[in-house]
Amino acid sequence: MTLPVRPRRLRQTAAVRRLVAEHRLDPAQLVLPMFVREGIDEPRPMQSMPGVLHHSIDSLRRAAAEAAEAGVGGVMLFGVPEHRDGIGSGATDPDGVLNAATRAVAAEVGDAIVVQTDLCLDEFTDHGHCGVLAADGSVDNDATLLRYREMALAQAEAGSQLLGLSGMMDGQVAAVREVLDAAGRSDVLLLGYAAKYASALYGPFREAVESTLQGDRRTYQLDPANRREGLREAVLDVEQGADVVMVKPASFYLDVLSDVAAASPVPVWAYQVSGEYAMIEAAGRNGWIDRDRTILESLTSIRRAGADAVLTYWAVEVAGWLRSR
Ligand code: PBG
Repeated sequence: MTLPVRPRRLRQTAAVRRLVAEHRLDPAQLVLPMFVREGIDEPRPMQSMPGVLHHSIDSLRRAAAEAAEAGVGGVMLFGVPEHRDGIGSGATDPDGVLNAATRAVAAEVGDAIVVQTDLCLDEFTDHGHCGVLAADGSVDNDATLLRYREMALAQAEAGSQLLGLSGMMDGQVAAVREVLDAAGRSDVLLLGYAAKYASALYGPFREAVESTLQGDRRTYQLDPANRREGLREAVLDVEQGADVVMVKPASFYLDVLSDVAAASPVPVWAYQVSGEYAMIEAAGRNGWIDRDRTILESLTSIRRAGADAVLTYWAVEVAGWLRSR
């Protein structure tokens, strides 16, 4: 048989396959999302996300140090406060749980890892929306931007090096950049959750943060039907000065991720969200799929589609696998 073109030559041994692999995972490209909960002394498991913990400030500090030790690139902190109100006061209180925890983590890990915080009001509002409400009950975009600006200053002051703007308000990147720069904090990085879709895959996270949301976020998060709009949002965030843009969720939105990666002049990250985590964990626990291989394949796919880094609840575990390989 004369067959001059034989692609299988490149697949014949593990050594050749390793040499020609187009994409690789590296611990430094993984970011660990973490939850800190007010009013607990010991870490507590979460029902909706087996293997993920609610931390006390002290256990969060230790776990962040372990993440740094494992070589992951960063931690993204989320706060679960005891009390909530209409404007999310806890988000801007320097002693609010997220700000206090950020201070503790920043002091612990220094420059070993990038300390990042979620900049959104939903965990802090009693209505559970990502912004403040107008009299008619709708989410008031521009009034919310004023709260985001206050929150940005509080988080930067607490020691966050990168603010994750996840609220999907129009103009949020520009609004926050402006106030930080005016305060002399042009050093603080901004991650625009540019293409954040109104996804059912946030379900376990909402349980984790004990979300009080009634209704949904479809007036601000993107419609899963729209691909072009994801790119548009990313372009707008870049124009407003985002240092990094995000696509979220990851696995169901690889087309959007690929579009954004092709067009973006800044790094592109993807968030493998709680529902993606939960589905793989559940099938793995049932013996229906090979959990570890599926995790690696999911992360490789997200990288292949164009993500420079990935937020994943498996960051520390996967970093351990990669380092022992
Ligand atoms: C909003 C926010 C959400 C997630 C992180 N930040 C989702 C939402 O409720 O709209 C979801 C993360 C996940 O599901 O893992 N601040």
